[in-house]
Amino acid sequence: MFNKRVIIKDLLTWEPGSQEVTVMGWVRTFRNGQFIALNDGSTNSNLQVVLDLGKYGSEFQKRIAVSAALKINGTVIASPGKGQKLELKATSVEILGDSDPEKYPLQPKKHSLEFLREIAHLRFRTNTFGSVFRIRHALAFAIHKFFNDKGFLYMHTPIISASDAEGAGELFKVTTLPLENIPKNENGSVNFKEDFFERSTNLTVSGQLEAELGATAFGNVYTFGPTFRAENSNTARHLAEFWMIEPEMAFYDLEDNMNLAEEFIKYIIKYAVAHNREDLEFLTQRLEDEEKHLPQDKRSEMSLLQKLEFVLQHEFERITYTEAVEILKESNYNKKEKFRFPVTGWGMDMQSEHERYLVEKHFKKPVIIRNYPKEIKAFYMRQNEDGKTVTAMDILVPGIGEIVGGSQREERLDRLEQRMKEMNIPEKDLWWYLDIRRFGTVPHSGFGLGFERMVQFVTGMTNIRDVIAFPRTPGNAEF
Ligand code: 4AD
Ligand code: MG
Repeated sequence: MFNKRVIIKDLLTWEPGSQEVTVMGWVRTFRNGQFIALNDGSTNSNLQVVLDLGKYGSEFQKRIAVSAALKINGTVIASPGKGQKLELKATSVEILGDSDPEKYPLQPKKHSLEFLREIAHLRFRTNTFGSVFRIRHALAFAIHKFFNDKGFLYMHTPIISASDAEGAGELFKVTTLPLENIPKNENGSVNFKEDFFERSTNLTVSGQLEAELGATAFGNVYTFGPTFRAENSNTARHLAEFWMIEPEMAFYDLEDNMNLAEEFIKYIIKYAVAHNREDLEFLTQRLEDEEKHLPQDKRSEMSLLQKLEFVLQHEFERITYTEAVEILKESNYNKKEKFRFPVTGWGMDMQSEHERYLVEKHFKKPVIIRNYPKEIKAFYMRQNEDGKTVTAMDILVPGIGEIVGGSQREERLDRLEQRMKEMNIPEKDLWWYLDIRRFGTVPHSGFGLGFERMVQFVTGMTNIRDVIAFPRTPGNAEF
């Protein structure tokens, strides 16, 4: 049997007592022909392996290169050296896979994140990405745990869809039509009758509409899957393929929705703080090192871990859109014309610089903004009695801006039909969505949390491309 190895993360918690074990992993460093720092991905900490000096020939020693894969048998002993409680005294070393040091692009030194993006197939082997992806895993697990413990049903909504849930037209087409010879109708339009689904289809931008169907049968459901947007935004917060968590709850109004969202965000942060201490401490130090060369006023006021603790201990600020615009208008920032996009007043779609001003400069904590103008929001949001606003809410956090978008849904058939007409959304495509309003309609609400933005917030990574394994962005689909 090959798999009788001890995981290094577990081994490092043992009391050394000459236990005989097998470990496997990849070489991080090899010093003095004697000391191997071995990493198996379970933790950022390496296991120190000590070889008997002179036991292995120089040819063999050369092969113990950075990232070579090793199988090592040995005994666990107390370490006389500083920096570790225990070490492994090797009795045998087997090279499972060589790694040519002349060609291997990662060396035990600091590489830029930009360079590492170009070798994303290898970047998991660095401390930074090891920590980021272990935290990403923990957050995903915590999300399922949170909803499962609350009795929510995990619903798998389709990836291929014939509708545009957000009505924003940022769709990736799905087709099997021959691109070099597209069948056309007499009027010149594409003849989708000849396509695989006999209609026009796209990758989904959101699982919300289908989740609403589930919520009006199961009560509380959530989706957690990939979503796709062909928006040409080359920013540090946008991906063309990102993961979204979308709970949808029957018998919830906007306030219930905001309460759930706040509880949810705090829960998963708390989970990471409790379960990923070592990785978070590493990333906290990393950020501090990175900010050392910045002038004092550009550095973060709080460390990463302090920021997370702070969010856990304070209530999110809750304001209306109208109040938010007032604050922006009255801000010194605006008066000194420091915004790139001017604050034009009520009705404006806030830019991320405005959102970040509110959370980072004004409130200095997460903010929930509710009741947006209907013109800048999707068709499905519940219309308020003022005729101008909808029962929407966005959650903004420091460093990121918008992390959650949600709303109470329009459950009144006539109001929904009227809004769809106004926005030129064909009823015939969404007959099933409207049916829910015909048969036992109820007040219901939901929201979407952008998973990568959440991972960014918890890890402190400034670019969203560094929190997803293989980012898809305009002009980039490598790996
Ligand atoms: O605000 P959005 O577009 O809302 C929806 O899709 C709703 N259907 C959600 C719902 O009510 N069920 O997107 C929700 C969140 C945003 O707040 C943001 O965090 C993230 O998804 N997001 C993106 N993340 C990365 N790259 C992109 N291009 C994103 N677009 C949205
Ligand atoms: Mg949004």
